Amino acid sequence: MNVSEVIEKRRSIRRYEDREIEEDKLRRVLEAGRLAPSASNVQEWKYVVVRDKELRQKLAAAAKGQAFVGHASAVIVGCAVRTDRVMSGGQRAYPIDLAISMDHMTLAAVEEGLGTCWIGAFSEPEVKKILGIPEEVRVVCLLPIGYPAESPGPKPRKSFEECVSWERWS
Ligand SMILES: Cc1cc2nc3c(=O)[nH]c(=O)nc-3n(C[C@H](O)[C@H](O)[C@H](O)COP(=O)(O)O)c2cc1C
Repeated sequence: MNVSEVIEKRRSIRRYEDREIEEDKLRRVLEAGRLAPSASNVQEWKYVVVRDKELRQKLAAAAKGQAFVGHASAVIVGCAVRTDRVMSGGQRAYPIDLAISMDHMTLAAVEEGLGTCWIGAFSEPEVKKILGIPEEVRVVCLLPIGYPAESPGPKPRKSFEECVSWERWS
């Protein structure tokens, strides 16, 4: 599969097979995140990979009860160990860096025949407590990952014309 095919094929997956992910596959997905670009190459990311069933279920409860989070064979918790950097354009770097890194993982997962779903709805204090994440670290997202047990169609997107203007704002 080439990159365009992977981008086209990726979906948020909310039902997973009860099947473990082979370690080499999981490692390749994490490696895709590790190789992502970041502002000034600071790479403030740290990924906590949760495979333990009991912990996954606790994370699901912390994700506002989204039970499917606990049904994935692993949950990758995307954390930022440095949160103070603001780029000269005024944007904070860490949520952007983490988003790029985790999105690399969502695409690499497709290549491995795996599904993911970005989870932004969770209680950060609860996730931190469950996993023993230090106070100063921010949790940016949870990424359940596993073999898909559904193949949803594409979600609607804005038209190309609505998203793109050439040369000037219009
Ligand atoms: C920042 C972000 C937060 C999201 N949070 C959740 C979430 O908490 N629960 C969920 O089921 N989906 C979540 N999603 C998935 C979106 O609903 C999904 O990407 C969108 O509907 C488009 O569908 P697609 O990913 O299949 O193309 C999130 C996606 C993003 C990018």
